[in-house]
Amino acid sequence: MGFYIFFVIFVIVIIFLFSSKALSPIPYFPSNKHDLPLIIKALNLKNNQTVIDLGAGDGIVIFEAAKVAYKRKLNTRFVAVEINPVLILVLHLRRLFHPNRQNIRIVLADMFKFNFMNFINFKNLITVYLYISPWYLEKIIENCKLKIENFHVVSYMYPVESLKNKKKIIKGKNKIFSYLFSTTT
Ligand SMILES: C[S@@+](CC[C@H](N)C(=O)[O-])C[C@H]1O[C@@H](n2cnc3c(N)ncnc32)[C@H](O)[C@@H]1O
Repeated sequence: MGFYIFFVIFVIVIIFLFSSKALSPIPYFPSNKHDLPLIIKALNLKNNQTVIDLGAGDGIVIFEAAKVAYKRKLNTRFVAVEINPVLILVLHLRRLFHPNRQNIRIVLADMFKFNFMNFINFKNLITVYLYISPWYLEKIIENCKLKIENFHVVSYMYPVESLKNKKKIIKGKNKIFSYLFSTTT
């Protein structure tokens, strides 16, 4: 009996964490795995680069990119920011068994409130990966512009309207939009 009550409470908590608009209005939905090679191409992995996935989900992008960087012997750093504690647990477990784990950081935080610059090692080569609802894209880009002078954005599926003049599009199962932002241009 005790087990069933525990199980029901557990299921309710999980459903709440994945559906609560109070926790976040952006649902968990992973990037399409067939597009991973194209997403990694768009990330343009390099030495001394930090790749930050704002709303990292289960880490499908960040872990695959970190694997590619490891194979290419790059020192690229990866930061996965996620608000959902269940997904944070998944991210930590996956990191534990990743060959490039020393270059991956997992952060439990709200991407709209948190200063991710504190977690970024290489401050002059920053790539932000986003797969979030289009109506929140501009808000997060404005936040990035306030904190970072130059950055590269890769947005899965949705274009960033305010950066439309600096766009490169890769067509996979879904579109991948890539932009460079600089305060000096
Ligand atoms: C569409 S999924 C994308 C997951 C991953 N980036 C990918 O491409 O597979 C969006 C993710 O953002 C997370 N999220 C939503 N709101 C957030 C917030 N305010 N701060 C941090 N993460 C958030 C959700 O929990 C979800 O995992």
